[in-house]
Amino acid sequence: MPDREPLDVLDAIHTTRAQRYLKPDPIPEDVLWQILDAAIRGPTGGNQQGWGWVVIRDPAIKQQIAEVYSERLLSAYGYGRVSDEELGTARITRGGVAEGEVGIDQRNRRGVVHLAEYYAEVPVIVAPVMQTAARMDDNTRRAGAGLGGSIYGAMQNLMLAARAFGIGSVLTWTLDEGTFFRDLLGLPENSFVMGLIPLGYLERGRFSQARRKPLGEVVHWDRWGEQRDAPESGR
Ligand SMILES: Cc1cc2nc3c(=O)[nH]c(=O)nc-3n(C[C@H](O)[C@H](O)[C@H](O)COP(=O)(O)O)c2cc1C
Repeated sequence: MPDREPLDVLDAIHTTRAQRYLKPDPIPEDVLWQILDAAIRGPTGGNQQGWGWVVIRDPAIKQQIAEVYSERLLSAYGYGRVSDEELGTARITRGGVAEGEVGIDQRNRRGVVHLAEYYAEVPVIVAPVMQTAARMDDNTRRAGAGLGGSIYGAMQNLMLAARAFGIGSVLTWTLDEGTFFRDLLGLPENSFVMGLIPLGYLERGRFSQARRKPLGEVVHWDRWGEQRDAPESGR
């Protein structure tokens, strides 16, 4: 594999984060195959592998995705509406704007808006598709967890493998309740696009460690609420 440097698995995990400034330069097809080959090593319930991976390079399709994505994302969450001044030190959250650790801060907001504006220019968008006809109308939490759980690990594999080739990615939402993506991509009935992953070499930024809540705050030992301070990670 000539296009990649050796990369320790923990280093890859720690430095695979949302990259939203991506160059339009093409990604070689053999690299895309290797990235997808890593994706499908991910887990699925009962090893059913009820997935399909649509690799989108057609400019006309990318353009349509870009238009729908930016309209839905920017209008649904107000990323475009909130200015840096209004946001201040707060973050955009699902519920609006709030102070705290969780949510999208000023810098990320600019990244989100940038990607929405340039989505059509990324060289590749991967659409991970689940086609589990029997369960698609089952709205229980269990079914939802099974559906997502049977592809999100593979999607993370895909992003980790991209990272190994120096390619940035970010998991984005489709915000699709209807059939737009099914029609656009000619998908079989009862299939659903579980997200969209743009891929590209980095235009800005670098592969750095993502910021998260303190580890000790989110880890519970034996029972919820039994917590300890985590050791320094040394990273
Ligand atoms: C279900 C899901 C949907 C997401 N949707 C979007 C999206 O539509 N647009 C976007 O720019 N990022 C999206 N993200 C990326 C998150 O914003 C990102 O993972 C989070 O901010 C952490 O980024 P970091 O790893 O760089 O810290 C999504 C992530 C997930 C898991």
